[in-house]
Amino acid sequence: MVLIYLLLLPISITILVVITVSRFLTTSAASKHRSPPLPPGPKPWPIIGNLPHLGKQAHISLQRFSQLYGPLISLRLGSQLLVVASSPAAASEILRTHDRLLSARYVPTVVPYDTVELDRKAIVWASSCSNDQWKAFRAMFRNQIFSAKAIESQAAVRERKVAQMVEFLEGKLGEELFSAGTDTNTATIEWAMTELIRNKGAMEKLREELMAELSPPLLGKSQIDESAACRLPYLNAIVKETLRLHPPGPLLLPHRASESCEVMGYTVPEGAQIVVNVWAISRDPTVWEDDPTSFKPERFIGSEVDFRGQDFELLPFGAGRRMCPGVPLATRQIPLVLAALVRNFDWCLPDGEDPAEMDMSEKFGITLQKEQPLLLVPNGSSL
Ligand code: HEM
Repeated sequence: MVLIYLLLLPISITILVVITVSRFLTTSAASKHRSPPLPPGPKPWPIIGNLPHLGKQAHISLQRFSQLYGPLISLRLGSQLLVVASSPAAASEILRTHDRLLSARYVPTVVPYDTVELDRKAIVWASSCSNDQWKAFRAMFRNQIFSAKAIESQAAVRERKVAQMVEFLEGKLGEELFSAGTDTNTATIEWAMTELIRNKGAMEKLREELMAELSPPLLGKSQIDESAACRLPYLNAIVKETLRLHPPGPLLLPHRASESCEVMGYTVPEGAQIVVNVWAISRDPTVWEDDPTSFKPERFIGSEVDFRGQDFELLPFGAGRRMCPGVPLATRQIPLVLAALVRNFDWCLPDGEDPAEMDMSEKFGITLQKEQPLLLVPNGSSL
């Protein structure tokens, strides 16, 4: 009996060792091939996922989730996975490091054309942002429509239009006027005027700059030289500060992962929708130390931070291959209109309303707008 036992013991030990070693090898091989987890995020409900968590102000809800779960989070919108980047480092990973794989476009099924036709005709609905057709569109924007030469050659037309706007407003002195629009430029001008009415010091400083810099070459009262206006440091700081606090596209336009890839130690799977919460980044106190929710154009005076896609703390136009091609036009039009409005009129709220009491609520939609449209009264300028 003892002999049998002694004979079997080495065999059993050998079998045990073989099983243990082979198990160890299999698990370590599997863990090597297992992809990292999805970014963390709030627990989804069955079927509808996190849809009820988003509410009407998605950019604000997503900011709260990023404060809880980190700079890269994921949520489920029904069956669709949504990945949200909410820090400059996460934005840089999405829009720079993995730009090629994460710049495809999510085309909603309600758009009544097939993908091939959309790719051929419509840049903002093109499903892929790396094919030849899309590159040709972008090259046309860069080299023709928004080239420095084209922008300069149209300056006189814009100056004339702005002079007409001023003449129109001169006929309305003392009357109540609505200022509201849905596009990115008008939304920016509306927010800038709102902030200037609330921040008298900034309005005064801007008026002084306009008086000092624009008065001498002024021909007619209402005519403003666009290229002179867009070089004014304080005016440009106001435009930057407005776009920081009120980016018209708070989440940019959704991107789509054309292939699975690893971002900040997490997996962003193929087909995931990706947004960058530039609104949250712009108000992050760890990024913007000096009272980030206050309107302080001075923070940009003497600062190198710009919105041209290199500084990931300020991304109103996005960055990378899908960055807004309209930047050269927007950065001419917005300062020109603001300069004309402030140079030619004193503005006040109707019925002696107190600017400190203004409703600053936002309406989340195609562009982030003022929920209550701005209502201002133009008066003759004291300049
Ligand atoms: C304050 C003004 C503006 C802001 C804040 C703005 C912002 C943006 C943003 C955030 C995107 C999406 C970037 C992305 O998908 O990652 C975009 C795309 C685009 N913008 Fe603008 N934009 C402005 C003005 C303009 C103007 C004036 C034009 C042209 C007249 C323009 C034309 C476009 C086009 C064609 C695209 C799509 C580009 C593509 O997907 O390849 N934008 N813009």
